[in-house]
Amino acid sequence: MPRRPSRIAKPTRAAIARAAALLRRGAPVAFPTETVYGLGGDATSDRAVAGIFAAKARPRFNPLIVHLGDLRAAARLVRFDARARALASAFWPGPLTLILPRRPGCRVSWLASAGLDTLAVRVPDHPVALALLRAVGRPVAAPSANRSGRISPTAARDVARSLGPRVSLILDGGRCQVGVESTVVDLSGPAAVLLRPGGVPREAIERVIGPLGRAGAGRKLKSPGQLPSHYAPTLPLRLAAAAPRRAEAYLAFGKTPAKLRPEAVRNLSPSGDLAEAASNLFAMLRALDRPEFSAIAVARIPDRGLGAAINDRLARAAAPRR
Ligand code: TXA
Ligand code: MG
Repeated sequence: MPRRPSRIAKPTRAAIARAAALLRRGAPVAFPTETVYGLGGDATSDRAVAGIFAAKARPRFNPLIVHLGDLRAAARLVRFDARARALASAFWPGPLTLILPRRPGCRVSWLASAGLDTLAVRVPDHPVALALLRAVGRPVAAPSANRSGRISPTAARDVARSLGPRVSLILDGGRCQVGVESTVVDLSGPAAVLLRPGGVPREAIERVIGPLGRAGAGRKLKSPGQLPSHYAPTLPLRLAAAAPRRAEAYLAFGKTPAKLRPEAVRNLSPSGDLAEAASNLFAMLRALDRPEFSAIAVARIPDRGLGAAINDRLARAAAPRR
C-alpha cells in the first residue's frame, strides 16, 4: 500500500485541472504515459526544471524530453525536416522521441536541454497525458518519475514509493502499456542516429526513413564532457575561482566580488540557493561564452544537493578538449 494514498489521484477532470494549475505554478507533477510515468515540470521555467532534478536527486543534468499535445505544438519549438515529419506522422502520438534543432526564440529552459541547441520532443500516446498537456498549454519536460538510478515506474504506486513526498500530485492512469521508455532518434544532423532503443522498434523506424546509425558508431568515445548530448562552452573554464583574472568573465555564486564590469559577470544565486543556481547554470554559461573573454572563471560551488550536479557539469565542461 502507498504510504500517502491522498497524493495519488484518479485522473478526473478536476484532478487534471489541479495538476495543470500546479505545473503552471512551477511545481512538479507525476503523470502516466504509455511508456513509463513521467515527472513533469513547466519546460519554459528554469526553476520548474531545476525542481525536477532536485526531486529526482539526479547527480547530473541530462537533457530532458519535452512533451507536447500534438505535432503543431512541437513544431513551434523545433525545426522539422521531411524525415521528422514522416516519423511524427507514422508514430505520434507514441513512444518515439525526436532530437531536432531548437528554433530561434524557442522559450524552453536551457536547463531542460542541458544547454544544447537541440531539443528532444515527443507526443505521448496516453489519454491522461494528452488531457494534461492540453490543459497546461505549455511544453512539459519530463524524465521518468523515479529517484535517480532506480528503475522507471510503470504504476502510480511505484512513483509514490520512489519519490516519496517530493512530488505533490501523482495522476493515476493505471499500468503503463509499453513499460519501457521511448525510442530516441537524433535527427539534428545529416544522418539519423538511434540514441536509445525503446518502445518503437528500430526496424519500424527504418521502414519509414531508411537505415539508422548507432550512437557513437564510427567515432571514439572521448571524455564524457565531449559526448554530443552535452553542451560545452567554447571558452575554457577555470573552476573554484575566488575572483576573475584579467580578461576573464566570472560566474559567481553567493557574493559577487566588487568592481567587476556588469557584462563580464553573472551570479548563479546571490543568496547561495543551489536550486536557483542550477536553474541559471546553462543560460549564464551561454551568456558569458563570448570571444571577448579569455576564459570563464567559476566560483566554488558547495557539493551538496543540486550542487553535486552543478559541479559534475562544470567539471565536464572544464575537462581538456581535443
Ligand atoms: O518514455 C520516455 O521517454 C519517458 C517518458 C516519461 O516520456 N521519459 C524519459 O525521459 O525516459 P529521460 O529524461 O529519462 O530520458 C531522456 C533521454 C535521455 O537518454 C537523454 O540523454 C535524451 O533523451 N535526450 C534528451 N534531450 C536530448 C538532446 N537534446 N540530445 C540528445 N539526447 C537527448
Ligand atoms: Mg530515466
